[in-house]
Amino acid sequence: MNTPSRQIVVMASGTGSLLASLLEAADRPDFPARIAAVVTDRECRAQKLADDRGIASAVVSLRDYPDRAAWGKALLDEVSRHQPDFIVAAGFMKILDGEFIGRYRNRIINAHPALLPSFPGARAVADALAHGVRVTGSTIHLVDDGVDTGPILAQEPVIIRPDDDEQTLHERIKAVERDLLVRVVTDFATKSIDIQGRKARLL
Ligand code: GAR
Repeated sequence: MNTPSRQIVVMASGTGSLLASLLEAADRPDFPARIAAVVTDRECRAQKLADDRGIASAVVSLRDYPDRAAWGKALLDEVSRHQPDFIVAAGFMKILDGEFIGRYRNRIINAHPALLPSFPGARAVADALAHGVRVTGSTIHLVDDGVDTGPILAQEPVIIRPDDDEQTLHERIKAVERDLLVRVVTDFATKSIDIQGRKARLL
């Protein structure tokens, strides 16, 4: 059995279906990373998935801190305690502060449910539907100082059906994201990254 060489911390806020696909992948002996911890910003299913598997988990909730700066510091401390080689934001719905991003520059992977640069932000699926586009999808990208602006690592399209609502469309996007994220995390753990301007390649 291979020893996983890279430590990752997964950050999440919701149902954790992307996390679940990473946990499943991490069970395979050839998966090149170990999920050291799951950090969430609220009580949620993602945290329970980690607990059920005996993986370290922590909730760092904004409401437990006097302000956003204190919350950001606590989040950074909690994640850093697990000494991750890189971080996966798998449905983490809060913006990370500059100090966090600076500490883990080019080492935070985010899943976004649209084809960036279209439809950044927290309402990507609803925004794509409202705009009337016929194709949307998933983007896996590095986090930089903007909102969903970092270099793109992978994208996959999803066709929008005339009868889609936000829920049906998001479920089909997530089905794509689950495989895409596992593939990118595998590559990220085993390859080196070359970043030229906006373009990132895993070689
Ligand atoms: C995924 O669609 C992911 O792209 C999105 O949250 C969902 C998480 O699903 N992330 C964002 O919108 C980040 N801005 P899950 O809770 O079932 O894993």
